[in-house]
Amino acid sequence: MARLIYILNGPNLNLLGQREPEVYGHTTLADVESACTTLAAGLGLELRFLQTNHEGQLVDWVQDARGAAAGIIINPAALTHTSIAVLDALNAFDGPVIELHISQVHKREAFRHHSYVSQRADAVMAGFGTHGYELALRHMAHVLG
Ligand code: DQA
Repeated sequence: MARLIYILNGPNLNLLGQREPEVYGHTTLADVESACTTLAAGLGLELRFLQTNHEGQLVDWVQDARGAAAGIIINPAALTHTSIAVLDALNAFDGPVIELHISQVHKREAFRHHSYVSQRADAVMAGFGTHGYELALRHMAHVLG
């Protein structure tokens, strides 16, 4: 059976492609999901690709991943910078966690420079644009061996 990877997306990423395209680009989240689904099949991975605007939903999905997923790729969006609850949920997950940001957060406002999630993440990616999702999947496949 293919190993399952959760790709979790936080608030406002449903607007990808429309929202601040100068920062996040023109690719939609559906485009990203479709590219990741094709790549995952080639890598022998199965995907659950999800987005929510709600902190509690993100916590619930991270909890669901326990015992179900081999790894998590997460773009917590603004919750990166505010959510101890998402960090705590990730701390209860045993597999590899990759934190991903489309934009290069360290080049942006100071409030985006701190990430609670980075205290748990095994790898952190920022500034690769939406292509970062595919890079993260490849890295996940490499790490899982
Ligand atoms: C983001 C960066 C966050 O600071 C921001 O709140 C987002 C998206 C990114 O992918 O670059 O919503 O996580």
